[in-house]
Amino acid sequence: MKKVLATIAVVSLMAAATTVSAMSIVGTKHDLSSTTGGGTYKGSTTQICVFCHTPHNAVGVNGSFYPLWNRSNPAASGFKLYSSGGMQNGYLTNGQGGASTGFTADSVSLYCMSCHDGATTLGAVKNPPLDSPASITTISGTNTITSSANLNDASNSLMNDHPVNFNLTNGADPAIGTVTTNTVGTASITNKLPLYKSQRGNTSLECASCHAVHDNAEGMFLRTTMNGSLLCLGCHIK
Ligand code: HEC
Ligand code: HEC
Ligand code: HEC
Ligand code: HEC
Repeated sequence: MKKVLATIAVVSLMAAATTVSAMSIVGTKHDLSSTTGGGTYKGSTTQICVFCHTPHNAVGVNGSFYPLWNRSNPAASGFKLYSSGGMQNGYLTNGQGGASTGFTADSVSLYCMSCHDGATTLGAVKNPPLDSPASITTISGTNTITSSANLNDASNSLMNDHPVNFNLTNGADPAIGTVTTNTVGTASITNKLPLYKSQRGNTSLECASCHAVHDNAEGMFLRTTMNGSLLCLGCHIK
């Protein structure tokens, strides 16, 4: 009996260790380094974080420097976002309703679009890495995303994509799980999904509510599995 218990303990320890070690950006498609880069897009530096972050002199918007961003973002207001008559939460600052007038400049979703717009150069960083010349050139020969990971339809449209950069208010749509300080979720998921600060308010749904940029354990950098549509059921009571 003791042995069985010990085995169970070891197995669960191993499971925990697996989960922790899987949570790394190294070797994923978001690793654009020349050495460990996991996709077709690789830069001329061994550094990984530099494509998105810098320890000093970060890009900021209205006094907010989260998350120490190192990229040149496209114009925020140039984008059109999903909207519908049925949406109860909305794009107005700190409020409900309202049609989208584009991203707010501090939206972390806009930050994703600084690569996923298929137009901004992947190596367009403010502070270049010390091991490389003044700019990062891509080894693969393409400097922008040309695959289906380019979400930008003609004329900067994200209208056919799940809504992002809008503020959630508890109870505005009873078919959405409980919104607390900066998370949202239903009982179907263990870890509630994160909401972000933006000029819309403090509980803004962004790309990173569904995606974990540094962790590809679930595939597609998702926060939880799509088996049985668990991710969708994490917010939608359906
Ligand atoms: C492809 C772009 C990208 C790369 C590369 C990247 N990050 Fe991030 N990181 C982001 C984005 C976007 C956010 C904000 C959204 C979020 O919290 O998921 C973020 C948030 C963070 C945060 C604050 C939130 C948190 O998760 O703790 C830390 C710390 C961080 N990154 C560290 C790193 C380090 C260290 C590296 C390199 C090993 C790295 N990142 C590489 C895009 C990137
Ligand atoms: C520094 C540029 C950069 C930034 C910033 C960035 N990505 Fe990516 N992302 C890439 C590249 C390059 C790929 C690989 C595209 C390909 O292989 O066609 C990718 C792939 C992906 C994929 C598809 C993964 C797969 O397995 O096919 C997802 C999902 C994704 N990114 C989400 C995000 C989200 C969400 C953000 C913001 C929180 C973000 N990315 C920010 C460069 C970036
Ligand atoms: C409501 C959740 C949700 C939000 C919000 C969301 N995504 Fe996704 N995204 C997904 C899921 C789920 C998939 C995988 C779809 C599949 O496998 O068919 C995906 C796939 C992707 C892909 C791969 C597309 C492909 O065909 O290669 C990219 C790139 C991506 N997302 C980026 C983003 C960016 C950038 C944003 C914000 C503008 C965003 N996502 C917002 C859930 C979301
Ligand atoms: C992080 C929470 C979250 C996740 C995860 C999520 N959604 Fe949503 N979704 C929302 C919110 C909030 C709205 C806006 C609802 C409102 O205001 O009435 C929305 C809107 C929608 C709409 C448009 C509704 C309308 O009234 O126009 C559809 C359809 C939808 N989501 C489907 C999905 C699918 C499919 C998935 C899984 C791939 C998913 N969502 C994952 C939070 C989420």
